[in-house]
Amino acid sequence: MSTPEKCKVGVLVSGRGTNLQALIDAGFADSFPARIVLVISNVEDAYGLVRARTAGIATRVISHKDKTREAFDGEIDAALREAGVEMVCLAGFMRILSVGFARAWEGKLLNIHPSLLPAFKGTRVHERVIEAKVNQSGASVHFVMPELDAGPVIAQSVVPVLVHDTPDTLAGRVLQAEHRLYPTALRLVCEGRVRLEQGEAVFA
Ligand code: GRF
Repeated sequence: MSTPEKCKVGVLVSGRGTNLQALIDAGFADSFPARIVLVISNVEDAYGLVRARTAGIATRVISHKDKTREAFDGEIDAALREAGVEMVCLAGFMRILSVGFARAWEGKLLNIHPSLLPAFKGTRVHERVIEAKVNQSGASVHFVMPELDAGPVIAQSVVPVLVHDTPDTLAGRVLQAEHRLYPTALRLVCEGRVRLEQGEAVFA
Protein backbone atom coordinates (compact mmCIF):
# COMPACT_ATOMS: atom_id res chain seq x y z
CA MET A 1 0.00 0.00 0.00
CA SER A 2 1.38 3.45 -0.85
CA THR A 3 1.86 5.96 1.96
CA PRO A 4 -0.58 8.89 1.95
CA GLU A 5 0.73 12.23 0.69
CA LYS A 6 2.10 14.40 3.46
CA CYS A 7 0.69 17.86 3.98
CA LYS A 8 3.10 20.46 2.54
CA VAL A 9 4.04 23.01 5.16
CA GLY A 10 5.68 26.42 4.93
CA VAL A 11 7.29 27.85 8.06
CA LEU A 12 7.87 31.57 8.67
CA VAL A 13 10.68 32.51 11.07
CA SER A 14 12.60 35.59 12.13
CA GLY A 15 15.08 34.17 14.62
CA ARG A 16 16.73 31.15 16.19
CA GLY A 17 14.05 28.69 15.04
CA THR A 18 13.95 26.12 17.82
CA ASN A 19 10.25 25.49 17.12
CA LEU A 20 11.11 25.10 13.44
CA GLN A 21 13.68 22.49 14.51
CA ALA A 22 11.01 20.62 16.48
CA LEU A 23 8.82 20.53 13.37
CA ILE A 24 11.76 19.43 11.20
CA ASP A 25 12.60 16.65 13.65
CA ALA A 26 8.98 15.47 13.85
CA GLY A 27 8.88 15.30 10.05
CA PHE A 28 11.61 12.64 9.95
CA ALA A 29 9.06 10.08 11.16
CA ASP A 30 7.25 8.35 8.29
CA SER A 31 4.08 8.46 10.35
CA PHE A 32 4.15 12.27 10.71
CA PRO A 33 1.54 13.69 8.32
CA ALA A 34 3.39 16.89 7.39
CA ARG A 35 6.56 17.79 5.53
CA ILE A 36 8.19 21.23 5.48
CA VAL A 37 8.79 22.29 1.88
CA LEU A 38 9.79 25.92 2.43
CA VAL A 39 11.15 28.12 5.22
CA ILE A 40 10.85 31.87 4.76
CA SER A 41 12.55 34.48 6.91
CA ASN A 42 12.35 38.25 6.81
CA VAL A 43 15.78 38.32 8.51
CA GLU A 44 18.74 37.34 6.38
CA ASP A 45 20.89 35.94 9.19
CA ALA A 46 18.14 34.20 11.15
CA TYR A 47 19.52 30.93 12.52
CA GLY A 48 16.28 29.24 11.52
CA LEU A 49 17.49 29.46 7.90
CA VAL A 50 20.63 27.50 8.83
CA ARG A 51 18.49 24.82 10.46
CA ALA A 52 16.36 24.55 7.32
CA ARG A 53 19.34 24.36 4.95
CA THR A 54 21.00 21.74 7.15
CA ALA A 55 17.84 19.65 6.81
CA GLY A 56 17.83 20.13 3.02
CA ILE A 57 14.72 22.34 3.06
CA ALA A 58 14.33 25.17 0.54
CA THR A 59 14.64 28.67 2.03
CA ARG A 60 13.71 32.18 0.97
CA VAL A 61 14.67 35.52 2.50
CA ILE A 62 11.98 38.13 1.98
CA SER A 63 12.83 41.42 3.61
CA HIS A 64 10.06 43.60 4.99
CA LYS A 65 12.16 46.73 4.58
CA ASP A 66 11.16 49.57 2.25
CA LYS A 67 7.79 48.10 1.29
CA THR A 68 4.22 48.20 2.52
CA ARG A 69 2.86 45.42 4.72
CA GLU A 70 0.60 44.36 1.83
CA ALA A 71 3.51 44.19 -0.63
CA PHE A 72 5.61 42.18 1.85
CA ASP A 73 2.76 39.77 2.56
CA GLY A 74 2.09 39.48 -1.17
CA GLU A 75 5.65 38.29 -1.75
CA ILE A 76 5.36 35.75 1.04
CA ASP A 77 2.03 34.53 -0.29
CA ALA A 78 3.48 34.11 -3.80
CA ALA A 79 6.50 32.17 -2.51
CA LEU A 80 4.28 29.84 -0.45
CA ARG A 81 1.97 29.15 -3.38
CA GLU A 82 4.85 28.61 -5.78
CA ALA A 83 6.18 25.93 -3.40
CA GLY A 84 2.76 24.25 -3.23
CA VAL A 85 2.35 24.99 0.48
CA GLU A 86 -0.94 23.83 2.00
CA MET A 87 -0.39 24.83 5.64
CA VAL A 88 1.62 27.69 7.13
CA CYS A 89 3.26 27.64 10.57
CA LEU A 90 4.47 30.85 12.18
CA ALA A 91 7.41 30.02 14.42
CA GLY A 92 8.86 33.12 16.02
CA PHE A 93 7.91 35.26 13.01
CA MET A 94 8.22 38.83 14.23
CA ARG A 95 6.01 40.64 11.71
CA ILE A 96 2.30 41.31 11.97
CA LEU A 97 0.55 39.87 8.94
CA SER A 98 -2.05 41.83 7.01
CA VAL A 99 -5.73 41.03 7.30
CA GLY A 100 -5.70 40.03 3.62
CA PHE A 101 -2.97 37.44 4.19
CA ALA A 102 -4.66 36.02 7.29
CA ARG A 103 -7.95 35.82 5.41
CA ALA A 104 -6.35 34.09 2.40
CA TRP A 105 -4.82 31.42 4.65
CA GLU A 106 -7.66 31.19 7.19
CA GLY A 107 -7.84 27.71 8.70
CA LYS A 108 -4.40 26.94 7.26
CA LEU A 109 -2.34 29.41 9.29
CA LEU A 110 -1.04 28.39 12.72
CA ASN A 111 0.96 30.22 15.36
CA ILE A 112 2.60 29.25 18.63
CA HIS A 113 2.44 31.60 21.60
CA PRO A 114 4.23 31.10 24.94
CA SER A 115 1.21 31.47 27.24
CA LEU A 116 -2.08 29.79 28.01
CA LEU A 117 -4.22 31.89 25.66
CA PRO A 118 -6.37 33.88 26.01
CA ALA A 119 -4.23 34.84 29.02
CA PHE A 120 -1.11 36.92 28.37
CA LYS A 121 -1.45 37.81 24.71
CA GLY A 122 1.17 40.12 23.27
CA THR A 123 4.80 40.62 24.29
CA ARG A 124 6.89 40.36 27.52
CA VAL A 125 4.80 37.30 28.32
CA HIS A 126 7.01 35.63 30.94
CA GLU A 127 7.71 38.89 32.79
CA ARG A 128 3.99 39.58 32.99
CA VAL A 129 3.21 36.00 34.10
CA ILE A 130 5.68 36.32 36.98
CA GLU A 131 4.43 39.81 37.91
CA ALA A 132 0.89 38.43 38.00
CA LYS A 133 2.00 35.73 40.51
CA VAL A 134 0.02 32.99 38.75
CA ASN A 135 1.23 29.46 39.42
CA GLN A 136 0.66 28.06 35.93
CA SER A 137 1.68 29.16 32.49
CA GLY A 138 2.25 27.24 29.27
CA ALA A 139 2.06 27.34 25.51
CA SER A 140 -0.73 27.50 22.94
CA VAL A 141 -0.95 26.69 19.25
CA HIS A 142 -3.82 28.53 17.61
CA PHE A 143 -5.36 29.33 14.27
CA VAL A 144 -4.42 32.85 13.19
CA MET A 145 -7.53 34.93 12.57
CA PRO A 146 -7.71 38.21 10.71
CA GLU A 147 -8.16 41.21 13.02
CA LEU A 148 -7.50 39.17 16.16
CA ASP A 149 -4.44 39.11 18.40
CA ALA A 150 -4.98 35.40 18.90
CA GLY A 151 -7.35 32.94 17.29
CA PRO A 152 -9.05 29.70 18.33
CA VAL A 153 -6.80 27.37 20.28
CA ILE A 154 -5.85 24.00 18.76
CA ALA A 155 -3.75 22.63 21.63
CA GLN A 156 -2.19 23.82 24.87
CA SER A 157 0.44 22.59 27.28
CA VAL A 158 0.49 23.62 30.94
CA VAL A 159 3.79 24.41 32.69
CA PRO A 160 4.21 25.21 36.39
CA VAL A 161 5.53 28.61 37.44
CA LEU A 162 8.01 27.98 40.27
CA VAL A 163 8.64 30.30 43.22
CA HIS A 164 12.16 31.26 42.16
CA ASP A 165 11.44 31.51 38.44
CA THR A 166 12.89 34.41 36.48
CA PRO A 167 11.50 35.27 33.04
CA ASP A 168 14.44 33.32 31.57
CA THR A 169 13.99 30.13 33.57
CA LEU A 170 10.25 30.17 32.90
CA ALA A 171 10.83 30.85 29.19
CA GLY A 172 13.16 27.84 29.04
CA ARG A 173 10.58 25.53 30.64
CA VAL A 174 7.79 26.81 28.40
CA LEU A 175 10.00 26.43 25.32
CA GLN A 176 10.51 22.72 26.07
CA ALA A 177 6.73 22.36 26.14
CA GLU A 178 6.42 24.34 22.88
CA HIS A 179 8.70 21.87 21.12
CA ARG A 180 6.39 18.99 22.01
CA LEU A 181 3.21 20.95 21.41
CA TYR A 182 3.75 22.36 17.92
CA PRO A 183 4.23 19.01 16.16
CA THR A 184 1.24 17.61 18.07
CA ALA A 185 -0.99 20.49 16.98
CA LEU A 186 0.22 20.37 13.38
CA ARG A 187 -0.53 16.66 13.30
CA LEU A 188 -4.09 17.29 14.54
CA VAL A 189 -4.73 19.84 11.79
CA CYS A 190 -3.07 17.86 8.99
CA GLU A 191 -5.00 14.73 9.94
CA GLY A 192 -8.24 16.72 9.86
CA ARG A 193 -8.88 16.07 13.55
CA VAL A 194 -9.35 19.78 14.14
CA ARG A 195 -10.46 22.45 11.71
CA LEU A 196 -11.57 26.04 11.72
CA GLU A 197 -15.28 26.50 11.15
CA GLN A 198 -17.03 29.87 11.42
CA GLY A 199 -14.22 31.24 13.52
CA GLU A 200 -14.14 28.31 15.96
CA ALA A 201 -11.85 25.32 16.34
CA VAL A 202 -13.96 22.21 15.74
CA PHE A 203 -12.59 18.85 16.90
CA ALA A 204 -13.52 15.64 15.04
C1 GRF B 1 8.64 31.08 20.93
O1 GRF B 1 8.64 31.31 22.30
C2 GRF B 1 7.25 31.20 20.37
O2 GRF B 1 6.26 30.82 21.27
C3 GRF B 1 7.13 32.68 20.09
O3 GRF B 1 8.40 33.06 19.64
C4 GRF B 1 9.39 32.18 20.18
C5 GRF B 1 10.16 31.63 19.01
O4 GRF B 1 11.26 30.86 19.42
N1 GRF B 1 6.08 32.95 19.15
P1 GRF B 1 12.04 29.97 18.37
O5 GRF B 1 12.56 30.92 17.28
O6 GRF B 1 11.11 28.96 17.81
O7 GRF B 1 13.16 29.36 19.13
